[in-house]
Amino acid sequence: MLSRNDLQKMQQSNRKITMVTSYDYPSAKQAEEAEVDMILVGDSLGMVVLGYNSTIEVTVDDMIHHARAVKRGATNTFMVVDMPFMSYHISMEESLKNAQKLFQQTGAQALKLEGISEDILTLTKRLTEAGIPVIAHLGLTPQTVNVLGGYKVQGKDKTAGEKLVKDAMKLEEFGAIGLVLECIPKELGKIVTEKLNIPTIGIGAGVDCDGQVLVYHDILKYGVNRLPKFVKPYADFNKVGVEALKKYIKEVRETSFPTDDYSFLIKDASLLPE
Ligand code: KIV
Repeated sequence: MLSRNDLQKMQQSNRKITMVTSYDYPSAKQAEEAEVDMILVGDSLGMVVLGYNSTIEVTVDDMIHHARAVKRGATNTFMVVDMPFMSYHISMEESLKNAQKLFQQTGAQALKLEGISEDILTLTKRLTEAGIPVIAHLGLTPQTVNVLGGYKVQGKDKTAGEKLVKDAMKLEEFGAIGLVLECIPKELGKIVTEKLNIPTIGIGAGVDCDGQVLVYHDILKYGVNRLPKFVKPYADFNKVGVEALKKYIKEVRETSFPTDDYSFLIKDASLLPE
C-alpha cells in the first residue's frame, strides 16, 4: 500500500497521484482493481448515495459505516476518510474523539478536514502528533456551502487567491500531508502547487496539481444527472443500467426469463410431490 513517503516521491518525480471516491464494497473493489493510488471516502456520500441535498446531514457513524465497507473491498489501497460536518468544530476534545473513532474503526490511512481556522490548524497538529495523518481541503469546501453562497468557483480575485496560498502554506506548516484543492482557477492551482512541499490533489483545480480526485459516480455517470464543469464522464452507467433493467422487466413480463438455463431442474419426475 502507498505510504505518505510514496506520495511525496510521486510528487517529486512528477508522477500524477490518482484518487477516486468510494462509499461501498463493490466500488472499492473496482477502484483497487483499477490500481488507483488513493481512495477517498468523501462525505459527498450524503448526496451521491444517500440522496441528501448537501453533505451537511452526514454523521460520523455514516462515515464509519461506509468506510468499513470500502476497506473490506480495498484492503491494499490508501484510504482517506472525511471528517463530516461539525464533527471537528464543537471542542478540541470532541474533535479528537471523533477523529480517533473514525481512524480506529475504519482502518483509514488519513483523515480529511475541510477549511482553515485556528482550531483546525491546532487539530491538524494534534492529530499528526498522535499519529493520524491529515489531508487538508481548501477552495470550495462543501460543508460551508451555506456560508460560501453556493457551489461557486473560489479564489477568483487577487485577495482571495493570496489568502488561499497563505492558508495552504499554514496547513502544510501545521502538518497536513496533502491538500485537496476544489473548484479554483487552474492558474491558482498551479501557484499553490508550486508553493507547497506537500502534494496537491485537485478537483476542478486544473492539470498542474500533483494529482486529481473525482467522485466515482460522476466518472461513471451513475445515479447523477447534472455534472459539474470539471467532471469528465468516462462511462454512462445510467444508460447501461436503465437499459438492462428495462430488458429484464420486459423478459419477465413476456416469460422469456427465466429460461431453463437459469432454472434448477429435477431430472427424475418421480421425485416430485403428487
Ligand atoms: O466529499 C468528497 O467527495 C470530497 C471531494 C469532492 C474532494 O471532499
